Amino acid sequence: MGIALQVTATPAALSVAEAGRSLAVPATYADEARLHAALTLLREQAPVHRVEAPGYAPFWAVTRHADITDIERDHALWRNAPRPVLRTAALDAALEARRAKGGALATLVHLDGRRHRELRAIGADWFRPKAMRELRARVRELAARYVTVMAEHGGACDFARDVAAHYPLYVILSLLGLPESDFPRMLSLTQQLFGQDDADTGRGSGTPVDHTSVLEDLFAYFHDLTARRRATPTGDLASEIANARVDGHHLDDNTVASYYIIIATAGHDTTSSTIAGGLEALIRHPAELRRLRADPGLLGPAAEEMIRWVSPVKSFMRTASADTQVRGTPIAEGESVLLAYPSANRDEEVFPEPFRFDAGRDPNRHLAFGSGVHYCLGAALARMEIQELFAELLPRLTRVEPDGEPARTATTFVGGLKRLPIRYSLS
Ligand code: HEM
Repeated sequence: MGIALQVTATPAALSVAEAGRSLAVPATYADEARLHAALTLLREQAPVHRVEAPGYAPFWAVTRHADITDIERDHALWRNAPRPVLRTAALDAALEARRAKGGALATLVHLDGRRHRELRAIGADWFRPKAMRELRARVRELAARYVTVMAEHGGACDFARDVAAHYPLYVILSLLGLPESDFPRMLSLTQQLFGQDDADTGRGSGTPVDHTSVLEDLFAYFHDLTARRRATPTGDLASEIANARVDGHHLDDNTVASYYIIIATAGHDTTSSTIAGGLEALIRHPAELRRLRADPGLLGPAAEEMIRWVSPVKSFMRTASADTQVRGTPIAEGESVLLAYPSANRDEEVFPEPFRFDAGRDPNRHLAFGSGVHYCLGAALARMEIQELFAELLPRLTRVEPDGEPARTATTFVGGLKRLPIRYSLS
């Protein structure tokens, strides 16, 4: 049995309005107790709550599992465009200006309807269970490599920085077919893109200029890759995307680069955060660690519980294409809802004892991968990566304990532990 996460800021200490506004503050997500105090209060008292936060266009925070599921499944009513993620009004304006010049991101999460289906179909086969079975040996090899890295650190490391940040990136960039020499550059660019509001990972000030300059660097790198893969296809996912045709035509350069970017970025920080957060959960719940070491058959449900527990994607958004209502609250055409996944994954109506980490939790209907037509394309890959790393690590990990304070990324989008100092013994 695990110990319940102590929510130190009690819901009573916050007003509903403050709780709502805190969802637009990156620092909230670096403080789990504060985040969950706000989300618990909203679930209880205002599950569909209008947020007016400084610097942001107003939005509705939706915090109940059932409401998020209903919204995600009605993709004709609830569209990803034009506001798929929570961004400041200034960043939205900067990206809009970029779009007008033809240099904006057009990834799967920015698209709806037929265009989304066509583009998703191009990469889909690479992430199906059959492809995962073929990839498993390579993933296992990389997992073993990172357990060796831990051994080389000699009994103490920053697990988030030295292991979890690298391994998923190596997996996804190997699948794309990028050379290993480019991996460090990709690591830094993807962390800058997601951690733009964090002083450690962002480009400094977290301004729209920083965000668009990271995008420019990524576009430049990937435009070059497209040209090379068209000239000489190499049988990897990058070649598949560069040479794909829709209605007889190649995708334009911008769309190809956007496709690479969504795969490299979505496939990286999400899984890294889950692996680091998963190990932290096991350290804080030693009985669950012992249970998992004694029964490797629990690796499947344990990986699922880590994904629920960490919920590395903090939110996506949808915009109403007609006047509607959620849980009786009217929402007008053009208004946006923020789908609070970490809240859905602690919803007392769905999960018995939601604040208990239970390595064998079953059923575990978490929404960390979303739902409906945008359901995470890489879910099977993420599950396999997490399972393989812990399958390699746990049998050898005879002792593990904290070695300093962990720290989380300040971000409203994707993140988790950026530092997890540990001491350990490996057999
Ligand atoms: C979409 C979560 C790992 C690729 C998403 C969405 C979520 C999510 C919440 C949006 C779903 C929605 O709107 O309903 C996660 C989590 C991961 C993870 C929690 C790890 C634990 C990965 C990996 C890849 C990946 C390894 C590999 C490429 C994508 C892509 C999309 C997506 C391409 C866009 C799908 C679309 O819009 O059609 N993911 N993800 N993700 N994810 Fe993941």
